[in-house]
Amino acid sequence: MKVRAIMAALCATGLMLGVSAAQAAESVEVLHWWTSGGESKAIGVLKDDMTKQGYTWKDFAVAGGAGAAAMTALKTQVISGNAPSAAQIKGPLIKEWADQGVLVNIDSVAKEQDWKKNLPPQIDKIMQADGHYVAAPFSVHRVNWLYINKAALDKAGGKVPTTWDEFFAVADKMKAAGIQPVAMGGQPWQDFTVWEDVVLSQGADFYKKAIVDLDQKTLTSPQMVKVFDTVRKLTTYFDSSRTGRDWNLATAMVINGKAGMQFMGDWAKGEFANANKKAGTDYVCTAVPGTEKAYTFNVDSFVFFQQKGQKAATPGQLALAKTIMSPDFQKQFSLYKGSIPVRLGVDMSSYDDCAKKSYADEQASIKAGGYVPSLAHGMAQGDATAGAMSDVVTKFMNSNESSKDAVAALAKAAKTK
Ligand code: BGC
Repeated sequence: MKVRAIMAALCATGLMLGVSAAQAAESVEVLHWWTSGGESKAIGVLKDDMTKQGYTWKDFAVAGGAGAAAMTALKTQVISGNAPSAAQIKGPLIKEWADQGVLVNIDSVAKEQDWKKNLPPQIDKIMQADGHYVAAPFSVHRVNWLYINKAALDKAGGKVPTTWDEFFAVADKMKAAGIQPVAMGGQPWQDFTVWEDVVLSQGADFYKKAIVDLDQKTLTSPQMVKVFDTVRKLTTYFDSSRTGRDWNLATAMVINGKAGMQFMGDWAKGEFANANKKAGTDYVCTAVPGTEKAYTFNVDSFVFFQQKGQKAATPGQLALAKTIMSPDFQKQFSLYKGSIPVRLGVDMSSYDDCAKKSYADEQASIKAGGYVPSLAHGMAQGDATAGAMSDVVTKFMNSNESSKDAVAALAKAAKTK
């Protein structure tokens, strides 16, 4: 084959698109915890995009919702001098890793794509450490969602709840109709997610004081006792075999009609989509009772580690950052993932009603001051504080501890640094 013919053939298959010999040789190792059906499809888009650009993708997936196992694996890798090219890290943890002096910056990509203009200011700030961009954001997940199986709701003769009283009324109706009311998983982060939802139902201001400011007066208030009382009541609607259950298996219970409802962030929507279920027809997405005007945000991002002691980002790392923030990738990733693009101005017309609602509620809550970081998903506090508070909540939800004792323990845990 003549050189020209080879070039033409390569161009036709897309292999020539900006691929240099150096790029072709670089493999990017990517550590993440996206292993459920919807999650795998979403990260698959990045893998395909990178492969098309000539990079070799080395997948380092560590199963386990919310990433606790992935974070342990990452620490081991970094300590042993085998840091991956990129890892799924978010919120204040980005700065904690940057402070260790092991990350590279991706300023050139952020400048080229004008991230400052194209990201909500709150998120733009989180991607930086000491004035440098060190993380690339994927999408925005809203955490305060309740998913309901439509057929189960109709069979029970209930209506979509907007208050806790209405919620318990629906749950009772489902029970009476022989339907397991709530599908609940059995890991600490899932307990913490539900508890955080109930905190938010007391109002965004209460949430901010308790969870963002860690205000001791709010943490020990009668209102916080009420939060634990509501959580205690909720546990009576869980089934008895939830111990160790993964979040996506709980979602599958709602998808299959084995249970009526699940409290979960909208990565659960990725599972409904993966099972070809339609929002509005097969299932309902609604804000957790009492949280309609508020929005707990959870933004996934990748940070980039120094490779072989080099302080500058490699071409592969820059390509990862650039691809993650490109409009086409942002769109396709979120369609699979259940989230909405973090990049502003992406056309929402091909999204389902839940995503459209998420986008509208995001804009409204930003204006009204109800846009708050999720504690259960690593956006509000550093590792140590969030971990100590999560322990308190999980202990409460898996024992007969009184709400008053839990509140006292929570206030103490919030002082952990
Ligand atoms: C992450 C999501 C992920 C979920 C379940 C959350 O903390 O932000 O991307 O789908 O955990 O693993």
